[in-house]
Amino acid sequence: MTERNFIPKPYKNSIENGSFTWSSPSNIALVKYWGKKKDQIPENPSISFTLDNCKTTTTLSYSKKENLNDFSFDVYLDGDKKDDFKPKIETFFKRIEAYLPFLKNYHFKIETSNTFPHSSGIASSASGMSALALCLMSVEKELSVIQSDSEESQEHFNQKASFLARLGSGSACRSIEGDLVVWGTHKDIDGSSDLFGIKYPHDVHENFKNYQDTILLVDKGEKQVSSTVGHDLMHNHPFAARRFEQAHENMSKLISIFKTGDLDAFIKIVESEALTLHAMMMTSMPYFILMKPNTLEIINKIWTYRTKTNSKICFTLDAGANVHVLYPENERESVMEFIKNELVAYCQNEHYISDQIGFGANQIQL
Ligand code: PMV
Repeated sequence: MTERNFIPKPYKNSIENGSFTWSSPSNIALVKYWGKKKDQIPENPSISFTLDNCKTTTTLSYSKKENLNDFSFDVYLDGDKKDDFKPKIETFFKRIEAYLPFLKNYHFKIETSNTFPHSSGIASSASGMSALALCLMSVEKELSVIQSDSEESQEHFNQKASFLARLGSGSACRSIEGDLVVWGTHKDIDGSSDLFGIKYPHDVHENFKNYQDTILLVDKGEKQVSSTVGHDLMHNHPFAARRFEQAHENMSKLISIFKTGDLDAFIKIVESEALTLHAMMMTSMPYFILMKPNTLEIINKIWTYRTKTNSKICFTLDAGANVHVLYPENERESVMEFIKNELVAYCQNEHYISDQIGFGANQIQL
């Protein structure tokens, strides 16, 4: 499978206008993607849980236009025009034009809303770019000669949506299909690819069903360092090569952990991955720190609680100060009690979001 597989045959249908709406979830990585090559190709494989409640819903309306020289689109968030979102989408359109040659034929209105607050520090790029990619795929399907709903064409639809989403924001390719999604070639995962995410193909133990994720909003401000800059700093990073190998090793370990349901081993990998991600930031040149004092307070509280109670609670982090608290469904009541009593005080405005990893359909066309 190469990029060429995603260049479509000439479209035969002609459509004046229309609109599609998709809702797509965010995801939280267990083995982290940090570092990329040209064209958004990851330096290492990653795997993520798909979140049930943190979603973006996007309506894409399109109408034929005369001037075919430029992209033309407007973006709205919760009904407000957002011109500051345009450069990111312009870049996205440029990257995917070869794969969606209709992009300059239409004016697009992109109306989007998130189930989580935009200023929560939760990245909306994964859910946002995947929802937009799905809408664009629906337009392409409408323009294509064969509009089959066969399994094969459904697979192509999802694969190409993931391929396109990746070109918007790498981690977005893990938000198209599945609850546990792998992106990046790995020797023990058949079908894994650097070009798109795939549903995790191996056994997953009952222990991981409905796994819970409570996101503690430690800092709702804009990140001081974007992930684009962070990925770039992995070039010439003194520990990069070893880190990329480690991600492969951790992925292999997770395969057996998912099979056996060994939660202690799961905790070790997940927390180590989170701290390694931040260690890469702290050891790049220039170096930076995205954790806040309250991030560390929360981590220490989680460790103390785990030792005291034998809980299987653990944490992970994305590229920011917020903490994702992960725990099995059977501990929901006790851990929520602990979070409310001991952790919420460290959140900005005592704000947190309860989510879970669903083992059902996440991405829906509305
Ligand atoms: O998708 P990007 O380019 O915003 O990168 C996100 C990287 C992390 O969230 C830090 C890790 C990951 O694998 O999602």
